[in-house]
Amino acid sequence: MGAPPADAKRIRALREAIARHDHAYYVLDAPTVPDAEYDRLFRELQALEEAWPELKTPDSPTRRVGGQALAAFAAVRHVVPMLSIRTETDSGPGGARAFDARVRRQLGLAEADPPVEYCAELKFDGLAINLRYVEGVLAQAATRGDSETGEDVTDNVRTIRGIPLRLTGKAPKLLEARGEVFMRRSDFERYNARQRELGQPPLVNPRNGAAGSIRQLDPKVTAQRPLSFYAYGLGETDGWRLPARHSEVLDALANFGLPVCGERAIARGAEELIAFHDAILARRDALPFDIDGVVYKVNSLALQAELGFVSREPRWACAHKYPPQEELTRVLGIEVQVGRTGKLTPVARLEPVFVGGVTVTNATLHNEDEVRRKDVRVGDAVVVRRAGDVIPEVVAVVAERRPTEVSAAPPWSLFEAVGGRCPVCRSRIAREPGEADWRCTAGLYCPAQRKQAILHFASRKAMNIDGLGEKLVEQLVDRGMADSVGDLYDPSRIDAAALAGLERMGEKSAQNLVEAIARSKDAGLERLVFALGIRTVGEATARDLARHFGSLDALMAADAEALQQVPDVGPVVAENIAGFFAEPHNREVIRRLQQAGVNDRQAARARQARQPLQGLSFVLTGTLPTLTREAAGALIEAAGGRASGSVSNKTDYVVAGAEAGSKLDKARALGIRILDEDGLRRLLNDNGESSA
Ligand code: IVH
Repeated sequence: MGAPPADAKRIRALREAIARHDHAYYVLDAPTVPDAEYDRLFRELQALEEAWPELKTPDSPTRRVGGQALAAFAAVRHVVPMLSIRTETDSGPGGARAFDARVRRQLGLAEADPPVEYCAELKFDGLAINLRYVEGVLAQAATRGDSETGEDVTDNVRTIRGIPLRLTGKAPKLLEARGEVFMRRSDFERYNARQRELGQPPLVNPRNGAAGSIRQLDPKVTAQRPLSFYAYGLGETDGWRLPARHSEVLDALANFGLPVCGERAIARGAEELIAFHDAILARRDALPFDIDGVVYKVNSLALQAELGFVSREPRWACAHKYPPQEELTRVLGIEVQVGRTGKLTPVARLEPVFVGGVTVTNATLHNEDEVRRKDVRVGDAVVVRRAGDVIPEVVAVVAERRPTEVSAAPPWSLFEAVGGRCPVCRSRIAREPGEADWRCTAGLYCPAQRKQAILHFASRKAMNIDGLGEKLVEQLVDRGMADSVGDLYDPSRIDAAALAGLERMGEKSAQNLVEAIARSKDAGLERLVFALGIRTVGEATARDLARHFGSLDALMAADAEALQQVPDVGPVVAENIAGFFAEPHNREVIRRLQQAGVNDRQAARARQARQPLQGLSFVLTGTLPTLTREAAGALIEAAGGRASGSVSNKTDYVVAGAEAGSKLDKARALGIRILDEDGLRRLLNDNGESSA
């Protein structure tokens, strides 16, 4: 007996809906449904496919969770070899000029001839992959291998949600899209933080994370790794009329639903290549993933064909690299720092090294298990990594460079390094079973913890007390002027006269600080809850708690069960919150904050004045399902955004409805994020934090 037509129809509808949500979430970066709804659709599809196995297809989203483990990868022969590109040796402007000069010479262009048009792209730092779509369905994914023969990693690649299992639009008979599998920095950090919590080995860096994940024989392991993909070129194609320019190939790939990076530009001549190189370098830290340079490609496919290849490298492309984000240096010592929650963090003191744009002298070692796993010892040669605004870390020891006297020393032990006592207050240290961290047991009696607690309270995302920095907090605590954040608002302890007596404080800055402290009383409940520094309560949780309970008193009165009604608050977080408020010392500090007049209520006014779209530029096009263009524009402007008429590089979002025309095309070409009405509503309801 076959499946009833209603089930078959439902299966098709679910697959389409899930594919649309995946595309919106992973490619457009504009989620269309809450996670819970997505999970519900996914489970419904899984159940229907279990019931009717004959309806399973290779392009079903259920194939993304990873199937059977393999014994080995099968070999895949590339019909069009996967070549690499030459790296310009000169990493300054000379690199772009040398490339342009070579191209011009090979094309026989005279000085008076017009500039050559290039497509300038990012050089992603991951693993090259060939995606083979047959009749629009992902049929095979392969690594580059030796460029002629790669490995069949289809099951692993299918787990990458940003990669469509079926192309959208009118797909050619055969299309091979080539690009890079990589890991976003935030995904890498989050994944590693969880691994460390679980006592599991973290990934070395995002590049190894991506490459290692694709080479896993068990696709279930790959499915746990947060991978991304950007297409940057073509392999074999059949039944498709190629556009004239490479930039148009990329636009076409984006229109097929493939992720294509928006950070690309058309550049005419060497000077525009240099401008691109410089502009991207200036924003390198702000990009959500690591790049090791930029890539230039002659844009005209006809000229590419004319230029051809030399020793297996195209003459029409080159890589122009940036300084590395990993460097070699030596460990001079391992110190132990005390954090806000008493956590003891081993930090490597390093021979100064220039990496990722700054001179690094310290790098985190995270915790004792990490030091042991990497077997870092004083005197070792190590690789340090600094990428984005993430704190520098020791990636690995270079074993061959370990001096013999270092080999003879025992592995590093945190307990022994600090003699079993907090390096700041000499209290006992402890490590709970199942915990990765040693902690100072003194709580807020430990000056280091007091300092960190006050610094956190005053920080920009918390109460935002401008001018209350590290040096000052140090003095306040050391001189007994502030034992807790409650003292900040106590004029008998802190006033302009007392502050003016401190080092590096003039009368003017003392006065400014007093005013900044007074202003912070109105920071609002969301910031106040975050500022308290409750373990595992970050900004997002603090905001949810404030919105849910509406006042500090209501939050303090909530038991673990009531706390778990709040989104993303599980038993552990609830326990931390309840435990924090049960502590008499904390209750006393809060009483003093309240007495001093610190605003501890969720203000209705604050809600109306929220400007989640502050500084963002929107273009509306087509007909939205429920909003007129005027209404949508008014909503955007009320939320602090700008609605403008034409799409440019400065546009942050295009909101597209039915029959959207050339503006939508242009947005795609420029790689601008595209939203539908639901997506816009989500942004409006968001607090302005990135949802990525
Ligand atoms: S094009 C024939 N474009 O860099 C040209 N490669 O040697 C094929 N890569 O391993 C490469 N970003 O995986 C191209 N925007 C980009 C790239 C890129 C990263 C990688 C590629 C290959 C290496 C080039």
